[in-house]
Amino acid sequence: MDRVIRIGMLGCGTVGGGIVQILHREADDITVRTGAKLEVTRIAVRDLSRSRGLPVPDEVYTDDPAAVVAADDVDVVVEVMGGIDPAGALIRRALELGKPVVTANKELVAQQGPELYASAKAAGVDLAYEAAVAGAIPIIKPLKESLAGDRVRRVVGILNGTTNYILTRMTEEGASYEDVLADAQALGYAEADPTADVGGHDAAAKCAILASLAFDTSVHGDDVHREGIENVTATDIRTADRLGYVIKLIGIASEVDDQVAVRVHPAFLPKEHPLAAVRDAFNAVYVEAEAAGELMFYGRGAGAEPTGSAVVGDIIDVSRNLLQTARGAHESHHRAKPIRPIQDLTTQYYVLLDVADRSGVLAEVATTFGDHDVSIAQVWQEGSSETAQLVLITHRAREGDLQATVDALKALPHVRNVASVLRVEAEVFAQ
Ligand SMILES: NC(=O)c1ccc[n+]([C@@H]2O[C@H](COP(=O)([O-])OP(=O)(O)OC[C@H]3O[C@@H](n4cnc5c(N)ncnc54)[C@H](OP(=O)(O)O)[C@@H]3O)[C@@H](O)[C@H]2O)c1
Repeated sequence: MDRVIRIGMLGCGTVGGGIVQILHREADDITVRTGAKLEVTRIAVRDLSRSRGLPVPDEVYTDDPAAVVAADDVDVVVEVMGGIDPAGALIRRALELGKPVVTANKELVAQQGPELYASAKAAGVDLAYEAAVAGAIPIIKPLKESLAGDRVRRVVGILNGTTNYILTRMTEEGASYEDVLADAQALGYAEADPTADVGGHDAAAKCAILASLAFDTSVHGDDVHREGIENVTATDIRTADRLGYVIKLIGIASEVDDQVAVRVHPAFLPKEHPLAAVRDAFNAVYVEAEAAGELMFYGRGAGAEPTGSAVVGDIIDVSRNLLQTARGAHESHHRAKPIRPIQDLTTQYYVLLDVADRSGVLAEVATTFGDHDVSIAQVWQEGSSETAQLVLITHRAREGDLQATVDALKALPHVRNVASVLRVEAEVFAQ
């Protein structure tokens, strides 16, 4: 077996380092499985002066990523530099040159997926991105290949480890969001600028990719209705717990009336649902399909080797295809489906109000809900000082009606603050 597939890497940080280590450690088995030796011949980084301690010769490093793409001794390009530019242009160039590409870049795939898939198709080569969603968890291939004969009804995921870690600690320690975030930053679990994670941007990008594959359409990252966890309080978590729920940041994609409904936000999930048991930085994706029924994929959504495992799996896959001058399974974005407006969502809601502790307030609040066609399933009052708290759980209601209710509540003289509004996904799994 003397065939060698030469790999050019764009980037060698957390994920890149994991890839190089796995390729080195598992080299013998990988050679047998692939039918060729996989050799890293070029690596582009920004800082050439940094010692990386990886099992590759010093000469492979360069600070010119375009040269890696164009190099004669690179057969497969692995993009793990992140960001939109220049990663997108480099991938397009590699594909134009007929070189298969493997990427872990969720942001890029969520923004430019259809253009990149079209470039790969035109060039007749593979573009693989298993690591872009939920790190080590195989979910792209199951949706693209294993479930190709089935009809996916819904995909629900815990797609961001940082937020799941924060919410887990808030739940288990009763701590505030601010305290847990500060601690997570000190421990290196959250970035100094945590916006991409806590604001739900990272999860929204992944949710867009999953929705596109699940429903044979093109969902852009910006199509996803997105809310982060910044406003989830210890009170919300306690209330959820008392009612038999946990709060998770979830991504949900489903098909309703030929529209794709796709959203990322914190929500109450029933404690008995498998996703409720996903703790710490773990990720999970729950898929409901017509014939297969319920499927659950669980594992590590980030980290050098977990993510590296998914990338190396893709490298082997595209290399096997390259050896056979074949192309692997491709995306089938053959249906243009409109995105369902969030106002048309129907679900249950939890609403927490700070109100003046006066007689008649509850009646006023209940009338406001009723006036907007939102019916109340449960209500109770806490505290009896100057300001009390009213906790309400609604029956299933239209999001647009709930939003109108909240606007009207804010105008009531005895409602001091609409402290929280969260969706209660009690029936989402039974619909
Ligand atoms: N980290 C995870 O657990 C994880 C999980 C799933 C997906 N991903 C995705 O994987 C990708 C890489 O993430 P990461 O955490 O490994 O990032 P990272 O640690 O910041 O590494 C980025 C690498 O790219 C290099 N680089 C960046 N811009 C460059 C440029 N213009 N020219 C040359 N080299 C450049 C950097 O060089 P220097 O080393 O010299 O700075 C570094 O080696 C991202 O798309 C990310 O979303 C990451």
